[in-house]
Amino acid sequence: MTAGAADPCVAEILGDPAFARLKGLVIETTGMAFYRDKDEDLARILSARMGCLGLSTCFEYLVQLQNPATPGAEMDELVAELTIGETYFFRHKEQFDALREVILPDVIERNTPFKRLRIWSAGCATGPEPYSIAIMLEREFGRLIEGWNVTILGTDINQKFLNRARDGRYDEWAFRVMPETLRTQCFEPVGRQWQIRPQFKRFVRFQYHNLIANPFPSIIDNIAGFDVIICRNVIIYFSKETVEALVPCFRETLTEGGWLIMGHSEPNQDLFRDFRTVNTPGAVLYRRDDGHSRRNAAARPSPPPPPPMLPASSVLPKLAKLTGTAVPPPPPPLLPPRPSSLGSAKPKPRAKIKAQPLFSPQPDSPPVADGMEEMRRLADSGQWEAATAACDKAITATPLNPVAHFYRAMLFEQAGDLEECEKSLRRAIYLDRRFVLPHYHLGLFLSRRDDPVGARRSFRNVLTLLECAADDQLVVQGDSITAGKMREAVAMHLKLVGEA
Ligand SMILES: C[S@@+](CC[C@H](N)C(=O)[O-])C[C@H]1O[C@@H](n2cnc3c(N)ncnc32)[C@H](O)[C@@H]1O
Repeated sequence: MTAGAADPCVAEILGDPAFARLKGLVIETTGMAFYRDKDEDLARILSARMGCLGLSTCFEYLVQLQNPATPGAEMDELVAELTIGETYFFRHKEQFDALREVILPDVIERNTPFKRLRIWSAGCATGPEPYSIAIMLEREFGRLIEGWNVTILGTDINQKFLNRARDGRYDEWAFRVMPETLRTQCFEPVGRQWQIRPQFKRFVRFQYHNLIANPFPSIIDNIAGFDVIICRNVIIYFSKETVEALVPCFRETLTEGGWLIMGHSEPNQDLFRDFRTVNTPGAVLYRRDDGHSRRNAAARPSPPPPPPMLPASSVLPKLAKLTGTAVPPPPPPLLPPRPSSLGSAKPKPRAKIKAQPLFSPQPDSPPVADGMEEMRRLADSGQWEAATAACDKAITATPLNPVAHFYRAMLFEQAGDLEECEKSLRRAIYLDRRFVLPHYHLGLFLSRRDDPVGARRSFRNVLTLLECAADDQLVVQGDSITAGKMREAVAMHLKLVGEA
């Protein structure tokens, strides 16, 4: 990046009265507590960004970051400079050996009856991690998973990295530990770069996800029910408190028996005490084993009252306290928030979801059928068959319920039944045109199906429906997604489908 001639200098930024607020916002948004004691590094990055925009004070830059006319755009630019995307193919061989020898054989055997496999690379940077898994799966397990519904989802907070990941084109340096013969089999040379061959791309999808701000598990975000989660060299930049709040979320996002792979030099195994630890040569793996965590809880000597395990959305106020920034109280939810099952041995009964879409204020909106909360819990933990049965039951009981049809669409998507997924989304919209989420998901669905015109129409419908909503208003059924965040996501997707 080239900074403009009039960049405010680092010393000016460090002495600016709004610097602390700016720093707090950065850490709050990204979780990167790493910058807590790196004021000069941060000031250098801010100086360059502010120079590009011709701004001279931190206050002006804060205003720009929150400019409602270009939601999230400058934050994306800043995040692109703040995040560190060091990555390469088959990084840390011992963990890939463990995938090949232990993890994939286990999940393939257990999932054979359903022919479904879901893997999440959280903090995937420019993509070598999910593509390495795809290469291993295709080459070494291809015959076993023929005809399966396989998803390898790469997510990141850095939109620029995600765009490069989607392109799948890499410099020599990304192959530093990959044998040349393997590279030639899996990549085509393009000038001085290498392009991944289509057969190794077909399972892999990339999606924006901020581990700090977007709560998970969430079937609505497609972050639910994974057989394997790999999150390496990401949480090293987060504070201990943030990591403590994230680990239970990872656990809840795995299927029973699912596997978690963290970076090999990371962290304190005690954080993962609710997992079963499995040691393989040169790697430590964590496995969700609900029987194990119950035994573990029982075996702990007179436990002190555990700190509440916070869902990811609750990480923000904690960080603000640490960074000394004031966080506005969260907006009152328009629906009771989906209670987290984290942190209490006995999950509290969830509040009933009401189908009173915020942007659909008809007093006579149909109530959501009984059993939807249970369906949601089953779906979030990847118990797809049971979740589908619960959803079908709800639809039989209240066939005109838009929320039930919307969830059915999400389940069809997981099952790879795209035709039924689209039908259910359209049915949910037909039943309540002002229900925002089905429009949004129809937009995603159509952009994946290469229908940019339809996708643009759906995304514009979302913007129209959100027109009068304040940024901090919660979107109905959207977990903690606010209208502001949804507008940002839509703006980004509109860009991807080619809206000027
Ligand atoms: C060092 S790279 C790791 C890449 C890959 N996992 C590996 O080990 O090769 C760290 C990645 O974490 C991403 N990241 C940082 N904060 C994040 C957040 N809050 N949510 C999601 N991703 C984040 C960064 O953008 C970056 O791409």
